[in-house]
Formats: sequence, structure tokens, C-alpha cells
Amino acid sequence: MTSDQDTFRRPAESPMEHSRRADGDADPATGAPCLAEAVHSEHAIQRQLLRALAAVVAEARDTSEFLQALADFSQRHFEREERAMARHRYPDGPAHCAEHRRLQDEIECLQALAASDKPVGDALVRFAAALQSHVEGADASLLAHVAGHAGRTASGGGPSA
Ligand SMILES: [Fe+2]
Ligand SMILES: [Fe+2]
Repeated sequence: MTSDQDTFRRPAESPMEHSRRADGDADPATGAPCLAEAVHSEHAIQRQLLRALAAVVAEARDTSEFLQALADFSQRHFEREERAMARHRYPDGPAHCAEHRRLQDEIECLQALAASDKPVGDALVRFAAALQSHVEGADASLLAHVAGHAGRTASGGGPSA
């Protein structure tokens, strides 16, 4: 099995579970633990959507509804992360946001392929790999920064410059 296939097979949190945590970035004490929970939960939902899309592709059914759900959910997720970057003065924000824009462009390309009745399977696997790479790289760095920032604030050290 390839790592791309692994991306489609990871266990995920249910949307119901996610909805309980959806306001996770509003922790009045530090902001960090709840943000991490919410972000991880949203990554799980993105993986669920990708698994559903892979199944739809395998059955040669219309992907447009799931692609729109992926586009809409990913936009909201990226906006949450970008609010956290601003709130926690994340120094790598511009590069991280640029990755978000590239991922959104890839989703739009998937939608264009689907709209023109072209196969989306290969592009979907590439997108899943790019998203997983983003989660393991840029998103992990953001969460580490937020955790450290909150820790410094809670101990009286103040925010980083
Ligand atoms: Fe991100
Ligand atoms: Fe993310």
C-alpha cells in the first residue's frame, strides 16, 4: 500500500464529534489546547471527505457535491488557522497562507476536471498527498508555535515578537 492510499484509510473523528469542538479556538486561558483539538478534528474531517471522494471516484459517480463540500470545509478550516496565526503572531504566516492558496487552487482544478467530465482520480491522490504533507509540515509548525506562545504567555513571559 502506498502512502497516498494510507491517507484515505486513516481513522477519523465523526462530524458530530467535531461539532462539539468547533469553537475550540476560543479558550480564554491560553487558546492552545483547544485550537490543537479543533485543528486535528478538522483535519480528520478533511480526510473523511477525501475517503468519501475516493469511493465516489471508484464507483464512477458524480464528484461535484463532495468536491464542493471539500472546498467549503477547507476554506473555513484555513480561515481558522489564519486567525490563529494573526492572534499568536506566527512568523511563518505568509508562507503558510500561500500553501493554503495552492491547496485551494488544487481543489478548484479538481472541480474543473469534474465539471468537464475528465477523470479526477490521479489528481485527487496528488491533492491528498499535498494536504497530508501540509498537515505534517506547516500545520504542525503552527500548532507548536501556538503551544509555545501560549505557554510563554501563561508563565508571564509575554508573547513572542
Ligand atoms: Fe494550514
Ligand atoms: Fe490544516
